[in-house]
Amino acid sequence: MVLRLIVAVVALAAGLAQAQSTLVSRGDYLVNTIMTCGNCHTPKGPEGDIKDRAFSGGLSWDEPPFKVTASNITQDKGTGIGKWSAADIRKLLRTGLRPNGLAIATVMPTGFYGIITEHDMDAIVAYVRTIKPIRNKVADPIYKMAQVRQIFPGAEKPYTEGMFKDPLKHGFYLATIGHCMECHTPMVKGLRDWAGNSGRGGFEFPGPWGVSVSRNITSSKTAGIGAWTDAQIKHAITAGIDKDGNHLKPPMGFPYYAHMTDGDLNDLVAWLRTVPARE
Ligand code: HEC
Ligand code: HEC
Repeated sequence: MVLRLIVAVVALAAGLAQAQSTLVSRGDYLVNTIMTCGNCHTPKGPEGDIKDRAFSGGLSWDEPPFKVTASNITQDKGTGIGKWSAADIRKLLRTGLRPNGLAIATVMPTGFYGIITEHDMDAIVAYVRTIKPIRNKVADPIYKMAQVRQIFPGAEKPYTEGMFKDPLKHGFYLATIGHCMECHTPMVKGLRDWAGNSGRGGFEFPGPWGVSVSRNITSSKTAGIGAWTDAQIKHAITAGIDKDGNHLKPPMGFPYYAHMTDGDLNDLVAWLRTVPARE
């Protein structure tokens, strides 16, 4: 009787541990592929991400609304987010608000994260809370004006897991949490022109690589990727090599997308093909 109870308790604990590890591996997959968190939050060397300093604070931006550095999001209690609760992290991702109520700079693409399913949100938070603590004090943010947070159309509320069965909906979900259209849409008066120019490219990214300009990824056969094969589009996203064999420059996170599953890439490409053509 006692033995049977012990067996049952052990089985229950093993079941919970299994569920937790499934959750963490889903979070690991999302954070380290399509969501490219480390592309901003991990410091870079000549070979790209410095892996043993992962998530300890990364790129800096000095723009009219703010001067900020991507935070240390490791579990270090003094310089990272080791003291944040799961609810604090979830709130930041959903709303862009820190535990003290202060809005973070909109470089952190929280305006895209409203679409994340409750399960994926649990997974991302569970994974983030397993990140090895690294001590590194990042410069405090400077805000030069109120932050204007734009919600990406379609990211107003969480998806449900059932919606993933539709490849186009799933592709849109991936493109949204991957904030593809943020980089690939020009700004008009400080705001992304979602209505008129989604996917048309033309936004400039200065960096150690010189200046890269995001390209037109609409379905236009002449200006965009409408005439590319699926394989060519996938190769551009995962290897950073365009249709003509030219190497694409950062900051797009090619090495992250390289680890996406083929199924996810197929759905992403299927959705890209539905983006209205813009010349
Ligand atoms: C495009 C770059 C970028 C991406 C991608 C990005 N972040 Fe950030 N993140 C930032 C910047 C910049 C800040 C700091 C903003 C500020 O100080 O106002 C930040 C702040 C944060 C904070 C607040 C930390 C603190 O101490 O206040 C957390 C938590 C966070 N990011 C987690 C994530 C996670 C998890 C992901 C992926 C799901 C992610 N970020 C993706 C740029 C990014
Ligand atoms: C951080 C900004 C950024 C993000 C996020 C981003 N891209 Fe890009 N992308 C760029 C830039 C910049 C280029 C052009 C690089 C160059 O010309 O060297 C590019 C190039 C491309 C190309 C090659 C197009 C061509 O004509 O050569 C494709 C396809 C593409 N991106 C698709 C995507 C998809 C799909 C996503 C989301 C999964 C995405 N991008 C996310 C900045 C970004």
